Amino acid sequence: MTRASLDKQPSEVASMFDDVAAKYDLTNDVLSLGQARLWRKAVARAVDARPGDRVLDLAAGTGTSSLPFAEAGAQVVPCDFSLGMLREGKKRHPRLPLTAGDATRLPFRDDTFDAVTISFGLRNVQDNATALAEMLRVTRPGGRVVICEFSHPTWAPFRTVYTEYLMRALPPVATAISSNPDAYVYLAESIRAWPDQPGLAARLRTAGWSRVAWRNLTGGVVALHRAFKP
Ligand SMILES: C[S@@+](CC[C@H](N)C(=O)[O-])C[C@H]1O[C@@H](n2cnc3c(N)ncnc32)[C@H](O)[C@@H]1O
Repeated sequence: MTRASLDKQPSEVASMFDDVAAKYDLTNDVLSLGQARLWRKAVARAVDARPGDRVLDLAAGTGTSSLPFAEAGAQVVPCDFSLGMLREGKKRHPRLPLTAGDATRLPFRDDTFDAVTISFGLRNVQDNATALAEMLRVTRPGGRVVICEFSHPTWAPFRTVYTEYLMRALPPVATAISSNPDAYVYLAESIRAWPDQPGLAARLRTAGWSRVAWRNLTGGVVALHRAFKP
């Protein structure tokens, strides 16, 4: 079983997700205490896909995060570099055009998509500055990006409890339900090491995105960042 380390070697990250693919969606629902569904709805509202819009759902995994865009009538392209996650996605959602691709070398032409979104993926990309630049490249001028990622709870007492919950409770609970509990040690570590809300906003601006804004979900456990291509 593979557990990626914090240097996030792409081959280790891909095999770690290959290992968790079969039970990925179930584990998500249990560990997020059902919040994952609410977060997905908030992402759908922020992306606001219209019928016919071309939407790239990057690091789409099993494709669950892509469903709201397909349901809105958009042409969604779920893209991921873990073949295990893509295979599981193909079984569950045979109609989705699941596509193999690395976030740092996207297999799409410039200015292809009206919107690019990535849920719980960017934190796992070793060279996330290059990924943000690639996302900008494949978005049409005026198009938008929405990033849904774990972040930093804004209320200090809650932040302390949350960090304790993450570091202590996550791996034992994951042992009971996941096919690779070690992946959840990585999850906790990578969340702690991830930039806070203003930090991610700054990375978006550095990559060339404009009108960067964010909103917190579940007290900042998750943040949605939205920005536009100039
Ligand atoms: C936690 S899963 C999120 C899946 C889905 N977006 C969701 O919300 O359920 C993270 C995904 O990011 C993918 N990933 C990580 N680094 C990637 C990269 N460089 N290129 C493409 N996919 C990547 C992994 O393979 C994994 O499927």
